[in-house]
Amino acid sequence: MERERWATRIGLILAMAGNAVGLGNFLRFPVQAAENGGGAFMIPYIIAFLIIGIPLMWIEWAIGRYGGAHGHGTTPAIFNLLWRNRLSKVVGVFGLWIPLVVIIYYIYIESWTLGFAVKFLLGLVPGTPADGSDPNTYLQPFKEFLTSYVGKGDELITPSPFAYVVFTITVLINVFILSRGVSRGIEAFAKVAMPTLFLLAVVLVVRVFLIDTGTGSALEGLNFLWKPDLSKLTDPGVWIAASGQIFFTLSLGFGAIITYASYIKKDQDITLSGLTASSLNETAEVVLGGSLAIPAAVAFFGVANAVAIAQSGAFSLGFISLPAIFANMPAGTFLGFLWFFLLFFAGLTSSLALMQPLIAFFEDEFGLSRKNAVYMTAGIVFFSAHLVIFLNRSLDEMDFWAGTIGVVFFGLLEMVIFMWIFGGNRAWEEINRGGIIRVPRFYYYVMRYITPVFLLVLLGAWGKEYIPKVLSETHWTVWVTRFYLVGLFLFLTLLVFIAEKRKTREVSCE
Ligand code: PHE
Repeated sequence: MERERWATRIGLILAMAGNAVGLGNFLRFPVQAAENGGGAFMIPYIIAFLIIGIPLMWIEWAIGRYGGAHGHGTTPAIFNLLWRNRLSKVVGVFGLWIPLVVIIYYIYIESWTLGFAVKFLLGLVPGTPADGSDPNTYLQPFKEFLTSYVGKGDELITPSPFAYVVFTITVLINVFILSRGVSRGIEAFAKVAMPTLFLLAVVLVVRVFLIDTGTGSALEGLNFLWKPDLSKLTDPGVWIAASGQIFFTLSLGFGAIITYASYIKKDQDITLSGLTASSLNETAEVVLGGSLAIPAAVAFFGVANAVAIAQSGAFSLGFISLPAIFANMPAGTFLGFLWFFLLFFAGLTSSLALMQPLIAFFEDEFGLSRKNAVYMTAGIVFFSAHLVIFLNRSLDEMDFWAGTIGVVFFGLLEMVIFMWIFGGNRAWEEINRGGIIRVPRFYYYVMRYITPVFLLVLLGAWGKEYIPKVLSETHWTVWVTRFYLVGLFLFLTLLVFIAEKRKTREVSCE
């Protein structure tokens, strides 16, 4: 069966940018930056972009295009092309498992942004107290608003029925776009969504910069983020957080970029296109994402309180503080709507990318029709998400194993398999083939030596710092999640071997 291709270069770049630009840019980045000292975070962040982000991005584009030319879009099969060893297939299962686990919670959070957008559009939101001097009382109504939406509970959570309905609708929207295919679905949607998203973000940034509370302004927030602070550079925690953010925001180490790259034409440029898509993501992150939640919170509550808000929970800045601030402005609920609609578009173009690996796997390796592959994948995601929706701690556990440490581990594997096992010179040729620009030779050494060593050190530090902490969590809800995650891995491994059997049977029948 003929595999699909991206129709145009601009479509490819926008789809790749849509893949990368997501909730990570507007929700995760501000929290990470604020928690890790603002200016102290940005230096490791930029270094991580240059020595992890850029090289790994080129590698993933190259691995994907190479796989696509041989009819495969996912890592169990592609790793096996690069490394003729049975182990390569099992290792490649991570490239299905990681995006699958992440989409299970990502799509639920994405659905909140849709739900909140609807509520703000209809004006069904709480008011804020007139006196804004104490952030706690000021934010309380919006804190309760979020809690009543997602529900609470130490073990079982009961979300609002509205949240559940909107979640179902969100899955269906994804199914609708994905079932139209790579170029008629994903690419066509990215061409509309990405310009819209940038426009919305610019409008909101301008509004945030006009904030003048009399006591503070957004500029102080920018100062907090951009004034280099060298004092924390020796703290490994800041480096870990910054590198983790680079992986997450650029969608690296997930297998998702590889799958998108497998739809690139055989000799089409990847060096310049890859760089362009990554630059778009970084603009969306540091310029736009960095100019919304943090500056607004700093203008209203001061630096210390803004940091405290960020530390109080991963969703406090984006789902509580920023909407509460907007709500108090003229046309405030409409601004809130624009904010959540922006998040929804950012999330949607990313959730498509997180689903596509498993879809491509069913199509490429099982010969399923596109529609059936989409239904199958969406069914698994919908079913699994119930864990996250109804079980406390499940989301964090999944985010840690797949979205935090898993991606670094998998990124390292990709680099070793491509640059060492497949071979440095062949890999270098493959990256530059058809390239509009040539990658500076310097990056050859970065890809072969510097980044792998850096990632190895990072994994060590990470493991030492966080794994014992995470493993000491022994609540039953966490154990249920862990068993489920292991179960998913075994299930995917089984599928990979069934696919292999099918193929050998097909070949012997011919
Ligand atoms: N990069 C996306 C974000 O910033 C997350 C993502 C990861 C999307 C992997 C697709 C694949 O939100």
